Amino acid sequence: MKKTLLFSKETIREKVKELASQISSDYEGEEPIFIGILNGAVFFLSDLVRELSIPVKMDFIRASSYGSKMVSSAEVQLTKDIEIPVHGKPVILVEDIVDTGLTLSYIMKNLEHRHPESIKICSLINKFERREVSIQVDYCGFQIEEGFIVGYGLDYDEDYRHLPDIYVLK
Ligand code: IMP
Ligand code: MG
Repeated sequence: MKKTLLFSKETIREKVKELASQISSDYEGEEPIFIGILNGAVFFLSDLVRELSIPVKMDFIRASSYGSKMVSSAEVQLTKDIEIPVHGKPVILVEDIVDTGLTLSYIMKNLEHRHPESIKICSLINKFERREVSIQVDYCGFQIEEGFIVGYGLDYDEDYRHLPDIYVLK
């Protein structure tokens, strides 16, 4: 398979700084809980929190969807839960890419049951091609129409995750 550069590490770093500065100003005086969705969001989350000027807490959640992406959100399951209580706290969910939206809508609903003060979504990439449920991405790095992308946490069958830049795979 051929990979073509889409976003260089310099471009990603600049975007991460922009998002961090926006979040720092929106959450001035607060201490939001950043919840990273494993595994893809690991690099993005760790770069993002290091650019913030506010204190934060961090935790991780993991979900897997069974079968093809044609299935309903009922097929999404949590395989690792958060450990920090979120009741009454502002939460920022951090994702690598929103595609169909099924994973995030499942995780949002699950977290809403624990009554956080608020939940916002921060995704490095928002991809529209296969969207099935409406998702409001509050902090978005890049928008793309279509394509399968890898690198900076994004994988194809667990490959390419470690790459510092983002590529389109063909
Ligand atoms: P969805 O929004 O529930 O369809 O799922 C989003 C998840 O699908 C992401 O967290 C990724 O793990 C995976 N995914 C979707 N599109 C891509 C892509 O272009 N490259 C790599 N992973 C992707
Ligand atoms: Mg993922």
